[in-house]
Amino acid sequence: MKHLVIATRNNGKIFEIKALLTGLVAQVSSAADFTDFPETVEDGATFEENALKKAREASQFTGLPALADDSGLVVHALGGRPGVFSARYAGDGAGDAANNALLLEECLNIPVEQRQAAFICALALVTPEGDERLFSGRITGRILTEARGDLGFGYDPLFLVDGFDQSMAELTLSEKNSLSHRAQAFRKFREYLEMIE
Ligand code: IMP
Repeated sequence: MKHLVIATRNNGKIFEIKALLTGLVAQVSSAADFTDFPETVEDGATFEENALKKAREASQFTGLPALADDSGLVVHALGGRPGVFSARYAGDGAGDAANNALLLEECLNIPVEQRQAAFICALALVTPEGDERLFSGRITGRILTEARGDLGFGYDPLFLVDGFDQSMAELTLSEKNSLSHRAQAFRKFREYLEMIE
């Protein structure tokens, strides 16, 4: 693929996604490269609905194929929260520190063995011709009782990856990008592109 726009302004995501698209797409632009890029209202009930909505608006605005990732953290004992509200768990415009503090507080009385969680990623590709595809990925883990590591972004320091003795924020970018929810969805996207091109 020659030119693709990724429909996000989140610097953490842009960084990871550009690495995941290396060798696959010649030119990768993001929302940050355009003036007046539409701010999609993420009011879908699922990650898939929100990803599709973001990709549709981005493709319509730029006239380019658009890729949108909607992702978040689902904590079993919290009935799936923060879920689709992951970015604004502690309120509109809340940053990672406030969201993580609220997560720790909500998990305070949950025993360690009941702290199962998953990061989920829905990835939507929408072309100007109206073709729409969805790819998904998921990684399971547990919510820690205190932050560990300073790599990655978002809830990474509070997420102990299943099968590892490290939090997601203690993994290097290349380690995270070989196993994360986003990496799995991108692997499916990559296979799809390789099939059609
Ligand atoms: P979105 O931009 O609406 O998809 O919101 C995603 C939110 O989910 C981010 O702001 C983070 O809080 C969280 N999130 C998604 N992916 C990750 C990840 O890989 N690590 C940590 N937090 C993530």
